[in-house]
Amino acid sequence: QDKRESLYVLSGWASKFFKDEMWTTEMGQVIGLHYFKERGYREDIIKKFELGYSPDNWTALVDAATKAGFHPDYLKEIGLAIERDDKSLYDRFRGRVMFPIHNLTGRVIGFGGRTLKTDKKVPKYVNSPESDIYHKSDVLYGLNFAKKAIMEEDNCYLVEGYADVISTHQAGVENVVSSSGTSLTTAQIRLIARFTKNVTILYDGDEAGIKASLRGTDMLLEEGLNVKILLFPDGNDPDSYVKNFGSSAFKAYIKENQQDFIFFKTRILLRDSNNDPIKRAEVIRDVVESIALIPDEIKVSVFIRECSNLLDIEERILLSELNKIRISKS
Ligand code: CTP
Ligand code: MN
Ligand code: MN
Ligand code: MN
Ligand code: MN
Repeated sequence: QDKRESLYVLSGWASKFFKDEMWTTEMGQVIGLHYFKERGYREDIIKKFELGYSPDNWTALVDAATKAGFHPDYLKEIGLAIERDDKSLYDRFRGRVMFPIHNLTGRVIGFGGRTLKTDKKVPKYVNSPESDIYHKSDVLYGLNFAKKAIMEEDNCYLVEGYADVISTHQAGVENVVSSSGTSLTTAQIRLIARFTKNVTILYDGDEAGIKASLRGTDMLLEEGLNVKILLFPDGNDPDSYVKNFGSSAFKAYIKENQQDFIFFKTRILLRDSNNDPIKRAEVIRDVVESIALIPDEIKVSVFIRECSNLLDIEERILLSELNKIRISKS
């Protein structure tokens, strides 16, 4: 317990270090702050999310932390420092803009660091590793800032990235969290379910985004959540949509283009089946499999009816498929 508290303190200290580097040093301002401003982030939003900058130096943080009296073992433990073969330490985050990751009470537990380079060989994001205070599968980025709005709106928007959370907040939509590019876990879903039973997935409009949404969603349905989905046009993500079209266009877009996940899945699979009869049969099974996950019988019957229209197939065939799936699972 003592050790975890030390890790929290060190993380908070590091977050302040990255903020100070950005706001008070020449390089931090010219490179880090300039980067965020170029992305269109307002100063109040940059401060709210405690964004920062890690100097482009092998030991800036290690040196400052050692001077401040932090034990090297703790620096390694939360992954701010990495150990070389000769046991010397170097900074994990160098020359990156920093997104601190907070827990529900607002304490910093990890970081995502984005490169400023456009070189495709450099990883776009470097993230803190798992530690005693950072269990990735239990954390949703932005939930500490979003929980109040999620309860008020009785809905949670799920986005892919850090930047998406920040831009949607700036646009005035605050009930947003990010899975940070990984597929959703049951723990994360139960975390959302504490605040609302309604989730809208706002993933990137690329094939990866579509795939991720089809993958992540069965678990949401199983947990009894109502799932809607919306894709952004032409390779946009929520962040770039806000930047390209503005806040009010963004709000209008998400208001008008949400569709129920089951119908979305049905349409996407139908589109990909190209009227091939064998593939069509698979689509039917696949859709009914998702419907079979929904715990609420009334919702199930509504979906069966609607999907019978979309798939142009009799309701009783879908129902018998549903029963087969249920029997095979029981
Ligand atoms: N991600 C990651 N490591 C990578 C790429 C992505 O951890 N090399 C995670 C990050 O949490 C990122 C999310 O996956 O925010 C979504 O990835 P992507 O859409 O590629 O990045 P964006 O968030 O859109 O980043 P940006 O707008 O800054 O380019
Ligand atoms: Mn400029
Ligand atoms: Mn993407
Ligand atoms: Mn993205
Ligand atoms: Mn983006």
